[in-house]
Amino acid sequence: MTRKIAVYPGSFDPVTHGHIDIMRRASAIFDEVIVAVLVNRSKTGLFTPQERQDFIHRSVADIKNVRVDSFNGLLVDYMRQREITTAIRGLRAVSDLEYEFQLAHTNRMLYPEMETVFLMPSVNYVYLSSTTVREVAMLGGELDFGVPAHVEKALREKYKK
Ligand code: PNS
Repeated sequence: MTRKIAVYPGSFDPVTHGHIDIMRRASAIFDEVIVAVLVNRSKTGLFTPQERQDFIHRSVADIKNVRVDSFNGLLVDYMRQREITTAIRGLRAVSDLEYEFQLAHTNRMLYPEMETVFLMPSVNYVYLSSTTVREVAMLGGELDFGVPAHVEKALREKYKK
């Protein structure tokens, strides 16, 4: 029987409870989930791609069918090379839709066999994003609402004066 494999791509700068929630949901649907960290924009990111991968790895160590990888360039090229046709994206609210439609349809134009599967995180995380987490961290606020303890520690170190 063919194994159902899906790629969950993103910047994950850094991974949040919302991302982890999506990883758990995806792992219950697919035989294998590859979390693929985008490298392209790493120069402008807060954490290096390797740090982001390590944070994810620690966050999902208990989920046996989730793997962490990175990719450079187009997502469709990464997926085609591995003969994977399913991508996962999290959908928090209607405000995500426009960007996600654009992304999904562009990817479909480039790789017609590709399907994007949207999963909803828990309602607890609909307001959560890496951007807000970075801002709260920069301004010294509490972070346990958004990220696991090991990521919170790394954020504190990053913004330590
Ligand atoms: O976490 P993000 O930043 O919302 O994730 C966006 C991501 C990484 C999925 C998207 O930017 C992406 O796939 N980038 C790689 C380049 C690419 O394939 N772009 C799609 C055509 S516009």
